[in-house]
Amino acid sequence: MASKTGIDQLRAIEEQFERDRACVVDLRSLEDIRTRYLSRKSGLITTQLQNLRELPSSERAEFGRVGNELKTRIEAAIETLQTTIAEQEKLSTLERERLDITLPGNRRRIGHHHPLTIVRNEIEEIFVSMGYTVEDGPEVENTYYNFEALNIPAGHPARDPKDTFYISDDLVLRTHTSPVQVRTMEKVQPPVRIICPGKVFRRDAADATHSPMFHQVEGLLVDEGITFSDLKGTLERFHREFFGKGTKTRLRPSFFPFTEPSAEVDVSCVFCGAAGCRICKNTGWIEVMGSGMVHPNLYSFVKYDPEKYTGFAFGGGIERYTMLKYNISDIQSFFQNDMRFLEQF
Ligand code: PHE
Repeated sequence: MASKTGIDQLRAIEEQFERDRACVVDLRSLEDIRTRYLSRKSGLITTQLQNLRELPSSERAEFGRVGNELKTRIEAAIETLQTTIAEQEKLSTLERERLDITLPGNRRRIGHHHPLTIVRNEIEEIFVSMGYTVEDGPEVENTYYNFEALNIPAGHPARDPKDTFYISDDLVLRTHTSPVQVRTMEKVQPPVRIICPGKVFRRDAADATHSPMFHQVEGLLVDEGITFSDLKGTLERFHREFFGKGTKTRLRPSFFPFTEPSAEVDVSCVFCGAAGCRICKNTGWIEVMGSGMVHPNLYSFVKYDPEKYTGFAFGGGIERYTMLKYNISDIQSFFQNDMRFLEQF
């Protein structure tokens, strides 16, 4: 009877194992049933086989054979499960970590030039095509270059600290690009043909047409035999290139300490073709620059011979040119970094 019970127990263990192995879902639960059946100390099969000695000798062989066969089957079944589950886990890891390298990438947004830079480049190109070179000068400037050598002596109202950012008694944020005229003439002998675009600073409250920082472009040409009509012709050509063929240029008498004679430069209204509109205040003309023949006093500062050389100079606001070209009504738009504005260019 004991043997029957022994064999029956083995059968019961086998059935239990079949149920257990159907529940194995991963390597962990597989490890659990391996311990449960095969652990050296407490495994269900192992402990059964240890009972062998207590059986009558006639039954030992039968029990031993069935027991060992069962043990081998369980070992093999666990081995197979082990392989299958490991394979499945590997596949599901691959699936989870799958990358579709054929998907399109995220496009980087490419930036572009600021409208003021676009216009500055365009102005530079036009003058370079006429034989000018592009100069640069300091934004923090000596009063000597910003005023003195431009025929604006101490005490002149143009030096008033309520209009100019003074850093010290003799250092300012340049109020115009004209100091580069003097710096250039100090460095080189005629013929001189330069433009200088750059930042300038004035103590103005910000509104639709004023900004405490804005940009100018200065022009200077000095050579033998240069006349006022050379100035007129140069500006006419520049404006036709910049605004379009039909653009007219007009010079109006004016005053600047560093030019004599001086002229305000107007272009025919780019919006109404000089017919008269709100923007040109029905005059048909829009003021864009200051200009004139270089004042002979400047030549004595830079040691040019005023009997030999004459020249002209002009200076205009880059913001103003940009506003006219693109029909922009508020100068502040250039400095607010609003993408909705900037993306239009
Ligand atoms: N510097 C003058 C201004 O800022 C412009 C100018 C330049 C006038 C050159 C004459 C000659 O208004």
